[in-house]
Amino acid sequence: MYRTHSNGELRLTSVGQEVTLAGWVQKSRDKGFMMWVDLRDRYGITQLIFDEERTPKEMMEKAKTLGREFVIQVKGEVIERVSKNKNIETGEVEILVKELTVLNKSITPPFTIEDETDGGDELRMKYRYLDIRRNPVKDNLIFRHKVAIEVRKYLSDKGFIEVETPVLIKSTPEGARDFVVPSRMNEGQFYALPQSPQTFKQLLMVGGMDKYFQIVKCFRDEDLRADRQPEFTQIDCEMAFVEQEDILNRFEGLTRHLLKEINNVDVAEFPRMTYDEAMKKYGNDKPDIRFGMEFGELNEVAQHKEFGIFNNAELVVGIAVPGGNNYTRKEIDKLITWIKRPQVGALGMVYSRCNDDGSFKSSVDKFYDQEDLAKWAEVTGAQKGDLVCVLSGNADKVRAQLSALRMELAERLGLRKPNEFAPLWVVDFPLLEWDEETERYHAMHHPFTSPKPEDMAMLDTNPGKVRANAYDLVLNGNEIGGGSIRIHDKATQALMFDHLGFTPEEAKEQFGFLMNAFEYGAPPHGGLAFGLDRLVAILGGQETIRDFIAFPKNNSGRDVMIDAPSNIDKTQLKELNLKLDL
Ligand code: AMO
Repeated sequence: MYRTHSNGELRLTSVGQEVTLAGWVQKSRDKGFMMWVDLRDRYGITQLIFDEERTPKEMMEKAKTLGREFVIQVKGEVIERVSKNKNIETGEVEILVKELTVLNKSITPPFTIEDETDGGDELRMKYRYLDIRRNPVKDNLIFRHKVAIEVRKYLSDKGFIEVETPVLIKSTPEGARDFVVPSRMNEGQFYALPQSPQTFKQLLMVGGMDKYFQIVKCFRDEDLRADRQPEFTQIDCEMAFVEQEDILNRFEGLTRHLLKEINNVDVAEFPRMTYDEAMKKYGNDKPDIRFGMEFGELNEVAQHKEFGIFNNAELVVGIAVPGGNNYTRKEIDKLITWIKRPQVGALGMVYSRCNDDGSFKSSVDKFYDQEDLAKWAEVTGAQKGDLVCVLSGNADKVRAQLSALRMELAERLGLRKPNEFAPLWVVDFPLLEWDEETERYHAMHHPFTSPKPEDMAMLDTNPGKVRANAYDLVLNGNEIGGGSIRIHDKATQALMFDHLGFTPEEAKEQFGFLMNAFEYGAPPHGGLAFGLDRLVAILGGQETIRDFIAFPKNNSGRDVMIDAPSNIDKTQLKELNLKLDL
């Protein structure tokens, strides 16, 4: 037997026992006549002691050759420690070593395997297997496992069946580019990796599966950010014979279950907000509602003077920054520089200080008097001591810019508390979204989403205004899930493809299998998918999903550890009939 106990297990009650432990050498301290080694495994650290009086001589010598990250096995007696370490659970005991076996040596690791490491991101990714030995990474993976188990428990309890769907498929449009795989047996043809199992889960509904889920890898060739990976995991779900309300309730239930089991948090409310309201109040379809700072639209109280910039703007909109009147002129200038960065793209910012004596001091005092500024404060909900920040311009752009400012300031003010959870459903998304580049409409969610019946008539007259039976689940300012009620009849689906610019032939070629299935009694159905990586990160109080993925890709989509993607050899290319300039 390699070990009788783990390194996180032994306590005072075990004193006197003979045990066998195995693990990695975290560090050793050598006092000459006495030596201590911290032995680590997944479960914790146990201190080993070697001393001249009690440890056989050759064992003592062997101990002195141990380096960091050597894998060893020891046999010895559990004894009570003289100086106890209250910081670790095994800190009251140590092992008086009688036998030491080196199972494997290690060269010096490229960074310290401690909670706080000296390794930079790239280095840690290159040696991810060493990084995983560190508590923060290891704990995140264990945390993810717990979330996945709770998801499976909850959904199974509610009658959902986990079904696997294929990975070598045909394009499923979710708005990103496909990763493709050449087929050797079908010369010149390619599979696409699923951006999601969307069409398959709908076919499962036609198949009568009724309640489906799958924890599943999805692949999207898109630009990467902290909350995006080219391969990521969804908790993909679908239900038949349901309305939107049934779906929202069921997955609100799942989210509540997770918050309770994982974070021990009871969420009082699961508010719902329309897309239009979210955009108006927060400039964002995934608002963080843990804090206020709601937008105040100022057109009426700011376009009556001679200030051309405001007068020419489609929208003048502001927020109140709590305590912002403390900012020095220099700090405000820095803020203005921040919002003028290309990533945000504002042209400038007007501000008004709300002084403690009830007066105001603005950057546009030349144009606006105290009465005007009092109205700005009122509309934005500013109190004495706050700062009103105002942007103006094209409505969509200015909302996005002010939203970026709102989030940045909230972050700086510590209002985005990781242990506070504020979920929210955003409903009634637009069905279509205008794409400047291709100059046509795209499905905002995906082409299988049903329009609201009452808006159908506008499909021809005002397509951008048609609302969909589509919803997103937002948690702390992150979109953790999204879904819709689907189209389940062939005629509506054909109409949708037509509006998206597919010819009937193209629609048939790409989605004929789904349209055909709709002819065999497709039940009404709908569903949603959570982003598991995002969900786990947020429940874990963070926003970078990479930290919750065992082997993530870097920002260029590379796995720097295995060095992928990589070239393939000529024989393979030939077999696949791929011609590349080599
Ligand atoms: P959607 O495209 O909204 O919907 O995706 C569902 C959820 O998946 C997560 N997500 C991602 N997470 C990490 N990296 C990515 N690149 C990434 N892209 C998406 C998000 C998102 O909310 N088939 C539909 C679902 C449905 O209609 O039922 C779909 O895939 O958290």
